[in-house]
Amino acid sequence: MVQSAKLVYKQNNYGDLWNRNLLFHCDNLECINYLLKHGFENKIDLVYIDPPFLSGERYLHRVKNNSNLAFEDVLKESEYLDMMQERLSGIRKLISSSGSIFIHLDWHAIHYIKVMMDQIFGSENFRNEIIVKRGRRKNLQYQFNSIDRMHAAHDTILWYSKLADTKFRPPLAEYHSKAKWMGFWSNVDRPTMRYEIFGSKPARGQWKWAKERALKAIGNYQLYENKFSHMMLEEYWQATSKKLEFVRKLSHRKYPEYWIPPKTHRIIDNVWLDIEAYNYSTGYGTEKHTQLLERIISQFSKPDDLIADFFCGSGTSLTVAGKLSRHWIGCDSSLAAIAVTKKRLAGNFIRVDIH
Ligand SMILES: C[S@@+](CC[C@H](N)C(=O)[O-])C[C@H]1O[C@@H](n2cnc3c(N)ncnc32)[C@H](O)[C@@H]1O
Repeated sequence: MVQSAKLVYKQNNYGDLWNRNLLFHCDNLECINYLLKHGFENKIDLVYIDPPFLSGERYLHRVKNNSNLAFEDVLKESEYLDMMQERLSGIRKLISSSGSIFIHLDWHAIHYIKVMMDQIFGSENFRNEIIVKRGRRKNLQYQFNSIDRMHAAHDTILWYSKLADTKFRPPLAEYHSKAKWMGFWSNVDRPTMRYEIFGSKPARGQWKWAKERALKAIGNYQLYENKFSHMMLEEYWQATSKKLEFVRKLSHRKYPEYWIPPKTHRIIDNVWLDIEAYNYSTGYGTEKHTQLLERIISQFSKPDDLIADFFCGSGTSLTVAGKLSRHWIGCDSSLAAIAVTKKRLAGNFIRVDIH
């Protein structure tokens, strides 16, 4: 599968913003070495790779009634590990000091690559393993009386940083919840958090906030009731820059209540079953979903950063990087992958001239 002739496509018709978008059609070791020789050491902010999984399978590119070989995942275990070792070592040199790498794998090789990454990147740079949904394959085991193992329903993405002290913004996902009032008393027993409000002091348990904060929030609600109650509380909160906190006491309720504002986002953890990881839009056998790449690229890089995918397949990561105003470098050794990627990029941007 390895092509010896290296072709570098450069999108050069978008001025400065795009002058670093490079698509390589070659073995990615050649691409990595080319980049190292041409000033890209410590320059790449985010790498996403979705290498072969050590599955022993051949993958097709299906278009209408035709299917061609897209790539083969048939290396022996030791060859596969040598291949990954060489590439991950080179990729580490390309990543910037604040950068990180996401490696998409499944149960076939994840354990080997975790150990390899602990050696190449350092175990102190391990951040998370992220659980994502597997593709469309259904669990058909209900048909059988006995099974040899459970259906595998997830892939795993390993996330490593280049340096251990790098900090990242908490990753957010869209999530809508309405404003609500919650009880201000808690049964956690801290005497220092028991003070008098609305003429009463709890004998046990505690108020949820410290006294100064609670008094301020009571004052905020009283001001709203006295002067602004022609507006909904949520409107008032929005008009006051979404900063005010409120505490109230209704006569028919035993305890005061505090107001929880409406939410538009929530902080995500490492289980990403709320988004799709696979897609089937191009006919390229192992195509990943733009939802997955949007989450990784938008949450763990910023506009103008340089993103690279050295096993780019149908070009999902590159398409998303462009859409999110990041520069990108892509590479694949498969002619089918490069053809699909070129087509997709042309579709996603106004016009892309690939030379
Ligand atoms: C799992 S697919 C990537 C799919 C991609 N993430 C997408 O969304 O379409 C792996 C890709 O790695 C490519 N590949 C495998 N070994 C390679 C190598 N040594 N150099 C460059 N590309 C390679 C294959 O051709 C294949 O397209």
